[in-house]
Order: sequence, then structure tokens, then C-alpha cells
Amino acid sequence: MAGKFDEVYARSLADPEGFWAEAAEDVVWTKRWDKVLDDSNPPFYRWFVGGECNTCYNAVDRHVEDGRGDQAAIIYDSPITGKQRTLTYSQLQDKVARCAGMLRGFGVEKGDRVIIYLPMVPQAAVSMLACARIGAVHSVVFGGFAANELATRITDAKPKVIISASCGIEPGRVIAYKPLLDGAIEISGHELNKVVIVQREQETCELIEGRDADWKEAMEAAEPADCVPVAATDPLYILYTSGTTGEPKGVVRDNGGHLVALKWSMKNIYGVDPGETYWAASDVGWVVGHSYIVYAPLFRGCASILFEGKPVGTPDAGVFWRIISEHKVSVMFTAPTAFRAIKKEDPQGELIKKYDLSNFRTLFLAGERLDPDTLKWAEDNLQIPVIDHWWQTETGWPIGANCIGIEHLPIKPGSPTRAVPGYDLRILDPDNNELPAGELGAVCIKLPLPPGNFPTLWNADDRFVEAYMAEYPGHYKTADAGYLDEDGYIFVMTRTDDIINVAGHRLSTGAMEEVLADHPDVAECAVIGVADQLKGQLPLGFLVLSAGVERSHDEIVGEVVKMVRERIGPVAAFKTATVVARLPKTRSGKILRGTMQCIADCQDYKVPATIDDPAILSEIEEALQGVGYAGKG
Ligand code: COA
Ligand code: AMP
Repeated sequence: MAGKFDEVYARSLADPEGFWAEAAEDVVWTKRWDKVLDDSNPPFYRWFVGGECNTCYNAVDRHVEDGRGDQAAIIYDSPITGKQRTLTYSQLQDKVARCAGMLRGFGVEKGDRVIIYLPMVPQAAVSMLACARIGAVHSVVFGGFAANELATRITDAKPKVIISASCGIEPGRVIAYKPLLDGAIEISGHELNKVVIVQREQETCELIEGRDADWKEAMEAAEPADCVPVAATDPLYILYTSGTTGEPKGVVRDNGGHLVALKWSMKNIYGVDPGETYWAASDVGWVVGHSYIVYAPLFRGCASILFEGKPVGTPDAGVFWRIISEHKVSVMFTAPTAFRAIKKEDPQGELIKKYDLSNFRTLFLAGERLDPDTLKWAEDNLQIPVIDHWWQTETGWPIGANCIGIEHLPIKPGSPTRAVPGYDLRILDPDNNELPAGELGAVCIKLPLPPGNFPTLWNADDRFVEAYMAEYPGHYKTADAGYLDEDGYIFVMTRTDDIINVAGHRLSTGAMEEVLADHPDVAECAVIGVADQLKGQLPLGFLVLSAGVERSHDEIVGEVVKMVRERIGPVAAFKTATVVARLPKTRSGKILRGTMQCIADCQDYKVPATIDDPAILSEIEEALQGVGYAGKG
């Protein structure tokens, strides 16, 4: 007999319109949809066409109207500054309405873009919701990116307003945001109506007369603004993510489908109830932060924790347990790398024993492969279900998970369990044929993608088709390779493109290569991801110098490391490069990055039949050993 999960899953694929229409009853619409799914223009599918709603209303106002006004909505816990602050739903409503009014006062209307470049402070969530309130489109940029990356996003999104702060705080240093911001605005050459600055006491900054406004003053002066109805298909936000070149992709999220899917996921995947405390320890700059710090927990009427700190060092490896215990967290979500960091500092889990974790029910991990050691450590020490789940910026919510809100399926280490209802997952060969269980292939999703998934890329419909939809006709290409086992469990093995995963952060080695290639002494280069015990992967560069360059290799390496930090940002964690005489290539000139990665990680590999000169591989091995890889770590 089929279990509950199988039943729900089967129904979601057999009758997607009925399934999602039912889920849509759980949200407040100002106008009901005319059609659940518009499939008239594939691969551009649209959900809830004709419907109107407001995302902010569903996240905030409706809970105040339903009597949750005095309940905590956002709990800001910042061990890095020693501050804590709780915003109830009523207080959040007041702030968001003011912020929306402030934006309107600065000329922002429905459809206009606002860039949010803020650290993990409550103003980040308030700004996002304020945009949603008036139908403006936000684009949040992660604080660890450099001015250049911010500039690319400004140029593409063309915002009317940027909201930023005087500084961000990392362990041991205060990062002045203003020079980065001013630099980015200058590089972009884009004209803004206004720049709003949250002045933080750790380091304030000078405001530019006329262009800049102080957050506090502008909020005090603002007239609160009400929620406006927007089309379900109108964009809610743009979130830029690494592509295969230095040009980031602007992933678009719509209002209606996002609202329905995320609310559904809180109950059915995460198994959380209204009024409970939910914590996603990520950053608002990433998709996890958008979906599971801000939107989904608030749609569900939960209290959401906004954590400004690190899993270790702020002040110690017990901070997660302190927060779980103090705020009675039921469900937590973070990246495996955070747990590896904690495990390294507190291998016996001694700090866990200091806290009352009796409310803590489930731990969800995502963002990178969950290695069995980390899974076991978390299970042994916490004695609660530890759920690996798999998804991407593009999908906005999990593709593969153990949906404990529906039925807790048995866990298989190394697998994020089964495809979530709504996702018709297929493993395909290069000719678009489905592969049998156990065979490795391209992990694809048969179209249409469920609600909440990206309808397109910002101003780049052609790129959307070419990058995701063209290679496997009728399917979305996840760019992950993997297989399904005989029970339908998914095993996600590796990316099929140049994306690497560093501490749960998605980065493009192609973008790093573009920076290295710009160094005047570099003739050719390659960047690969090498295995790292803490961060999962780290980037490593190979440099072939131009003929006649006689300078010290260390000096050149130091310069390229600095260039990547300045152009992409510290988050790239690019710290190692080595100079080689030549790169291994196929006879047609393709650089054998995969082979180099196998050598670095001491994995078995076959010398590719198409290699131009196999002798180069021992030179590469030697170079890698020189920087602590290929068995010399
Ligand atoms: N603003 C400015 N700089 C930032 C930043 C931000 N928001 N976030 C990170 N950085 C900097 C760090 O200070 C570090 O700089 P450094 O080279 O001077 O040391 C660099 O970027 C790399 O940061 P990170 O990868 O975070 O490494 P870390 O050594 O500081 O911390 C972990 C390691 C594992 C503790 C940390 O990566 C972590 O908590 N990861 C959780 C991952 C996560 O939340 N992923 C989101 C998806 S769920
Ligand atoms: P991002 O868009 O930043 O969320 O990164 C998405 C990518 O991270 C996926 O395509 C995977 O390669 C990887 N990823 C995320 N979650 C998992 C997981 N649970 N297991 C394996 N890989 C994952």
C-alpha cells in the first residue's frame, strides 16, 4: 500500500492544477486567479494567472488582523554586536509600512527596483517586505561581495533606490560598506533617486549631501503606506546568482506562485506550525535567507530568527545551542559547513549539553552535499531527525527532501531523500532519454516547474532558455549530476558546470578565471574546486605566465589573490594559486579541469583518451603538491 507521501506526490504530478489550487486556498488573494497554470508559451509557464495578491500582506498584516499582533515575528540575535531585539508582528507592520512610505517618498512605485545591500540586521527584512508592500522589486546583494559585483547588479537591475548600511561586522573586523557602495555606484554610472544608509554605532559614515538619506530620519519622516495588490505573476524580487561567466544571472521570483509554494513548504516539508520559532542560519543575501529567514516563516505566522554571527567564534561553538534554547527554536536550517565548523571546535558536543534543547524537533541541512560524518555527528549529538534537503537559487524551495510534515521517510545517508511534490524529477542521458535506477546522469525536472520556481531571468529570456531549458528539451536542467536509486531516492553527486560550493556559497570558477586572466603577466589560467574538510570546496588557481616574465611567482600569486578579493569579494575565499609551465588540455584545446581536480583530491581517474600530452599530468601533480594538495596536504 502506498504511504501518505507517495499519495501526495502522485497527486501533485497527476493533477498539478488541482493540487496547487488547493494549496492556494491557504493564502489571501485580493482577486482570485483566472487560470492556475498558463502553459500556452513553454518553457515560460505562469502560475495563478489573473490572480492578485500582496506578499507583504500575507507575511505581516494578515497575522495582525488574525490576532498575532503581539507575537514575535522577527527575533534579531546578534552575538557579534552583543545585541538582541524582538519585533512583534504589529511592530513589524508599523516599520514595514513606514519603510514603504519612505521608498514611495523617494519615487519608488510598483515595478521599480530597489537594491538592498545590508548586513544581517532587521532593516534588511523590513526593506524587503516594504518593497513587496508597494509592488517594488527588491534585489538583495550579499555583503561579502566586492564593489565590482555590486556594480554589475546595479547596472542590470537599474534601481531607483539603494538601501545600505555604514558597516558590516565580521569576526575581528568592521567592514566599511560606504566606500564599497560609493565605488560600485561610480563603476555602474547609474543615476539613483536616493541612497538610504542605516548608520551603525560600530562605524558611522559620511552621507553625500542630496543623494544620501539617513534611515532613521527618513523613517521618522515617512507616511506609512498600505499594501497594494499586484498580479500573481508580477516580480517580487531579483536575486543574482553565479552563472558560468562573470555575468551573474538575475533569478526572478514572482508573487503568487512564491507565496503559495513557500507557505505549503513550511507545513509539508519543514512541519512547522504557526506560533513556533523557526531559524534559518544563513544570510538574507542568499536564497535561503530570502525564502526561509524572511518570507516562508512569516507566511506561516512563525517567529523567525535573524542571526548576525558565525557558528563558531561568536563567542564559541555553543552559540547555536544558546539560541535554540533561549528562543525555543523548533526547527532549524543551516548548511553542513556550519556543523563541520562546530564539530571541529567541539568534537564531543560538550557545549550542547549545557543547554535545554527540549523544543528542538528537526534539523534541516542544505546548500551543499551533506557528508555522512557530519550527518552522523549531528544525529548522535542532537538525537533528533537530521534532514538533508537539496535545492537551488533558481527553484527557491526544496526539490528533494524528506517531507516530514507529510510522512517521515527512512533516511539514507548521502541522499536528500525523494523529489518533493510538484517536482517531476528525471535522470537523463545526453540524448534526453531517461536513465534507469542507479545510473548517473543529468538531474533534470520535467516542465512545468512547480509554483515558486523562477519564471525567467531578469531581462534575459533568451539566456533563461539557453542556460536551463535548451539542452534537455521539455526539461529544466539543474546542472547537478546524480542518480535515483531503486526506491526513488536522489543522490546528488556533482555540478556539471563550473560552479563550486565554498562553505555553502555558490561561486563560479569561470568568474575567477576572468579575473586571473586580467593580470598582465598571466597568459593562461584555470581555477578548480578542491576538497576542503571545513568548507567542502575551495578554489585553487593555476597560472601560466606570459613568455619572458621573470618576476617572483609568489609576488604574482599574491597579486592575483588580491585581485579576486577586490573584484569578486572575500566570500570567494580564493587564497591559493600555483604557477605551472602549461595546462593539461584535450587535443581540441579544452582544459582538463576535472582531471586536475581528481589529482588534487587524490581520487582515481582515467587519463582522458583525448589528452594532448599526458606528461603534463605529472607536472600538475608536482605543482599541486607544492601547495599542499595531491597527497601533500
Ligand atoms: N560581509 C563581508 N565579508 C564577509 C561576509 C559578509 N557578509 N561573509 C563572509 N565574509 C568574509 C569572511 O570574513 C571571510 O573573510 P577572510 O578571508 O578575511 O577570513 C571570507 O568572506 C570567507 O567567509 P566564509 O566562507 O564565511 O568563511 P569563514 O572562515 O568566515 O567562516 C564558516 C566559515 C563555515 C563558519 C562560515 O562559512 C559559515 O558560517 N557558513 C555557513 C554557510 C551559510 O550560511 N551558507 C548559506 C547557505 S545555507
Ligand atoms: P544555491 O543556488 O546557492 O542554493 O546552490 C545550489 C547548488 O548547491 C545545487 O545545484 C547543488 O549543487 C548544491 N546543493 C544544494 N543543496 C545540496 C544538497 N543537499 N546536497 C548536494 N548538493 C546541494
